[in-house]
Amino acid sequence: MEEQFLDLKNSALSLILDTESLTELEEIRIQFLGKNGELTLLFKEVTKLSAEEKPEAGKVANEVKRIIENTIKQKSDELTKKGKSKHQSLDVTEPGIKPPLGHLHLVTQAIREITTIFGHIGFTRERYPEVEWDWYAFTSLNFPDDHPARDDWETFFIKQQPDSKMGPVVLTPHTSSGQVREMQKKQLPIKMLNIAKCYRRQSDVSHTQMFHQFEGVVIGQDISITHLKGTLDYFVKSYFGKDRIARIRPYHFQFTEPSFEVDISCGICFGKGCKLCKEGWLEMGGAGMVHPNVLKFGGIDPQKYTGFAFGWGVERILMMKEGIQIDDLRILYGNDLDFLKQF
Ligand code: DAH
Repeated sequence: MEEQFLDLKNSALSLILDTESLTELEEIRIQFLGKNGELTLLFKEVTKLSAEEKPEAGKVANEVKRIIENTIKQKSDELTKKGKSKHQSLDVTEPGIKPPLGHLHLVTQAIREITTIFGHIGFTRERYPEVEWDWYAFTSLNFPDDHPARDDWETFFIKQQPDSKMGPVVLTPHTSSGQVREMQKKQLPIKMLNIAKCYRRQSDVSHTQMFHQFEGVVIGQDISITHLKGTLDYFVKSYFGKDRIARIRPYHFQFTEPSFEVDISCGICFGKGCKLCKEGWLEMGGAGMVHPNVLKFGGIDPQKYTGFAFGWGVERILMMKEGIQIDDLRILYGNDLDFLKQF
């Protein structure tokens, strides 16, 4: 009897291990374990045995049944898994998983655009220290010692012993601090574009403590206000659109004479005046003819050379660009992906 069980087990196992199909496996299961299956019938034989033989034969029978059932289960799992992976590797039309792709920050995009626009008319982008001597940030730009911008309410000061000539160390409050550094290179004519981070102690909807400015300086022979105006118009048209124009208004800056405030015509009413702009013009930033004292600080003879300069906020012009509406500038640096992803 036991012999019969062991033979049955061997033939069942070899069939199970050989098969490569789930349907065939099911047929094998029925062949051995089904209602009239070979093992089931053999079990019935056990009941006919004598009382002494029964326990031993029953034990073997149960053991064989357990082995066959387990092997079928294992084989079934193996074939199901194989079937799945076969399906995956074959389906070339299934869409792939796209890795998330980021993009440049809105401000970086603007900086690149500004650099390209000015690059087309010969400006070269320069970089100057972000942590700077007071002398470059203020003194060389004709600021008197008691000018309010020097107040530590406006400017960030670095904790360091002031230098007897250069004064204290500050975080650049404006890109104008690159003007005299550029002049000291002693390479005329100058056509520089300094785009950099600036710092001031102000934080509200229209100010962040760290922001960016771009500063243009042109110095050479016979440079006049008309060159400045032409450059401003060119930039305004390139950046904001062909139908926009620039206007200059008298103003005051320490380092330019004469000084101007630059406005651009409103994109809705084009200078006529509307609900949005009221006057027809939007204020953009400062400009002027480089002050003779500044030229002297830079080692340039103001009798021989003249120049113009302008300095505007990157975030500011970004806000003024059509289609971009930013109510609170601080969102630019808040790392809010829902906001940043839109640009
Ligand atoms: N540095 C000035 C500021 O931060 C902006 C400025 C005004 C720059 C006039 C200039 C200029 O080059 O000519 O407010």
